[in-house]
Amino acid sequence: MFLCGWLVMVTLIPVILSVNPGVEVKITDKGIEYGRQLGIAAIQEKLKKIRIPDFSGKQRVSPIGKVQYSLTNIQIVNIGLPIAPIQLVPGSGVKLSINNAFINLRGNWRVKFLRWVKNSGSFEVGMNDLSISESLAVKSDSTGRPEVSTISCAASVGRVRIKFHGGASWLYNLFSKYIEKALKSALQKQICPLVTNAIDDMNPRLKTLNVLANVDKYAEIEYSMVSSPAISSSSIALKLKGQFYNIGQHQEPPFSAPAFSLPPENSNMLYMALSAFTANSAAFVYHKAGVLSIYITDDMIPKRSPIRLTTTTFGTFIPQISKQFPGLMMKLLMKTDKSPVVTFEPDRVTVQVTGTVTAYAIQPNDTLTPLFILNLDTSVSSKVFLSGMKLGVSLTLNKMKLSLQTSYVGQFQVQTLSNSLEFVLKWVVIPVVNVQLGKGYPLPAIRNMELENTKLQILKDYMLIGTDVKFTG
Ligand SMILES: *[C@@H]1O[C@H](CO)[C@@H](O)[C@H](O)[C@H]1NC(C)=O
Repeated sequence: MFLCGWLVMVTLIPVILSVNPGVEVKITDKGIEYGRQLGIAAIQEKLKKIRIPDFSGKQRVSPIGKVQYSLTNIQIVNIGLPIAPIQLVPGSGVKLSINNAFINLRGNWRVKFLRWVKNSGSFEVGMNDLSISESLAVKSDSTGRPEVSTISCAASVGRVRIKFHGGASWLYNLFSKYIEKALKSALQKQICPLVTNAIDDMNPRLKTLNVLANVDKYAEIEYSMVSSPAISSSSIALKLKGQFYNIGQHQEPPFSAPAFSLPPENSNMLYMALSAFTANSAAFVYHKAGVLSIYITDDMIPKRSPIRLTTTTFGTFIPQISKQFPGLMMKLLMKTDKSPVVTFEPDRVTVQVTGTVTAYAIQPNDTLTPLFILNLDTSVSSKVFLSGMKLGVSLTLNKMKLSLQTSYVGQFQVQTLSNSLEFVLKWVVIPVVNVQLGKGYPLPAIRNMELENTKLQILKDYMLIGTDVKFTG
């Protein structure tokens, strides 16, 4: 019976699909330190909103009798939050401990006694040894955007020192007790809600993560988080999907992201690793969309080139062409026949592109008559560069291999076309492609984020961007 139940349990455990990220972002100690500074500044601003209510009362004091007092217009003059260590809590979140903070306040006092004696003055309060301990969780929300929330907050006020201006010293003793109690309670009640509020205020900004970054009319990149942030004792790692999709109905490619891990570098605030998977998902999307194709006409060939897209030029390599189609202009169609494959090796990005070249003669009535179809196998090197929050790419031709797929003009030696096609690739096709690739692809980013001291390295299976970050506004 027990065994049977156990077997049922085992078969009911769902298969957990783990999704490897295409992009990983690591926030180092240095980045966390910058975050701490921003956080402390935000908390400091919030604490300025502490409101101390007016209070008044009656107190019997011998020998004068009843004394009516009121304390009004109590305002914060100054808040000091010293260096507050931040501590990562592996697996869950972040703990911020503010110790030895102080708040200075100022207010007015007023008393009335013996029916006709009135007196008033001002007072200053220094509250020292203020400590705030805030634990927060860093998670992924339902849309894959980061989200922070308060797990616990505790605040305590230590010493209170009050200095009166005006009035007699016996009065000071009377008020001190009340002021101290009232202020301590008002502060303790307000500090944590305000700190929590400052933490919650980070969310609207975090939610500007471009989980679906638009690229062009064909593609968008999904940068949603595939899991909650991985928090270790020295860094926070965000695993992002990092996948190109066709716009609209997303279609998965026939390959998935392999696992990869970042090097232990930590001299920059942030490390962003973009895997070859991300690049390959782009190649898949553009190939599928049918946009990796180009018609080449003679007007695209540099003017000074002796090679023209005419049956006369091509007739010098394949005499049948000028015999059968004398004096005609030609047109080439180059297109990929499968998704290009991108590989990252240290200091090198290579793209393997295979496709076909179809040559046509343009008849006087504009009909295209196919002459031959070649298989084209090329290897191109890519240079990757950053421009703002975008990644641009520039290609150069490495190698090109031709073979004949179909001829409509009889047998010919394919190699005789090699130089001309290489020329067309180098001087027409690649420059056109580079204009497109140079427009850049958006990196994962949140609003008003700028990169500084950025360096880009190509490593095995991914590229690594090490950078500092600055938020402008
Ligand atoms: C265009 O011209 C070619 C060659 O002269 C001919 O074979 C073809 O039928 C013509 N097509 C049309 C649509 O007129």
